[in-house]
Amino acid sequence: MGTAPRLSERQFRSWRALLERGTGLRLPEARRPQVETLVAERAAATGCAGFAEYLHRLVHRPSFGRREWQLLAARLAVRETRFFRHPAVFAAMGRHLAERLRAGEQRLSLWSAGTASGEEAYSLAILAARLAAGRPEPLEFLVVGTDIDGEALARAAAGVYREPLRRGLEAADLAAFFEPAGAGAWRVRESLRRRVRFLRHDLLEEASGALLPAMDLISCQNVLVHLTPWRRRVAARRLAERLKPGGLLVFSPGDLGGWRPEGLERMADLPAAFRRPMGQ
Ligand SMILES: C[S@@+](CC[C@H](N)C(=O)[O-])C[C@H]1O[C@@H](n2cnc3c(N)ncnc32)[C@H](O)[C@@H]1O
Repeated sequence: MGTAPRLSERQFRSWRALLERGTGLRLPEARRPQVETLVAERAAATGCAGFAEYLHRLVHRPSFGRREWQLLAARLAVRETRFFRHPAVFAAMGRHLAERLRAGEQRLSLWSAGTASGEEAYSLAILAARLAAGRPEPLEFLVVGTDIDGEALARAAAGVYREPLRRGLEAADLAAFFEPAGAGAWRVRESLRRRVRFLRHDLLEEASGALLPAMDLISCQNVLVHLTPWRRRVAARRLAERLKPGGLLVFSPGDLGGWRPEGLERMADLPAAFRRPMGQ
């Protein structure tokens, strides 16, 4: 790999401020090498003579900027993920869904917001499928997985994973919901895949979630932590708007600090989960 041209201290501070504003992502000092490499790569790939010309086009040419900002946000996003990433949180989400069914819900809508390559969305689908298997009557459920990163979403939609047992999946779920796809890879079975839809969606774009159905459960874990503080609140409010009465919104501990989305009640069994009260 070639070495990216370095930004001076001042240049880096301006680029960091611009990129944080434009993408909503937090870029601590530790990510400086990634920022330098990315900006240098994009300047070269778009035929700019250097950082200054790339900056000028990004800021002053809307047609250039629109596509470039999407790409920068996707490339700067942190995509690390696993199946059932925080098992205790998934267990609590499973209890919440079981409670919804006991309360008479016939159809479950679940949303993995900031799903990356889809492991979280399929984990939610497995939770719902396990509940469906324990009922005498059929259960309809749909999981929506969304992200700003088109490449990650394409991998999610393909549903093929290398060594999923090393990535949080249990052997029983592998046997029930996956089929071998060769060379240590496994594909999510069609019976589960058809319950999961992947869409590009930006949590910070106004009204862009309005087309999604109202949700019984929204999992937005390990996403807001990468956003700048006030954007976390913007995203959290938009997610809260998509909950059904009684629906649950789950973040990661520390995502919101002491703040909580208006009108929701904090759950006792999860450190960063909130429920829309029934009848609201
Ligand atoms: C670390 S991954 C988390 C994946 C999964 N939720 C988990 O807990 O394992 C963070 C994901 O959030 C996505 N993301 C970041 N900003 C976003 C935004 N504004 N709208 C939607 N997704 C975003 C990133 O593209 C990335 O795929």
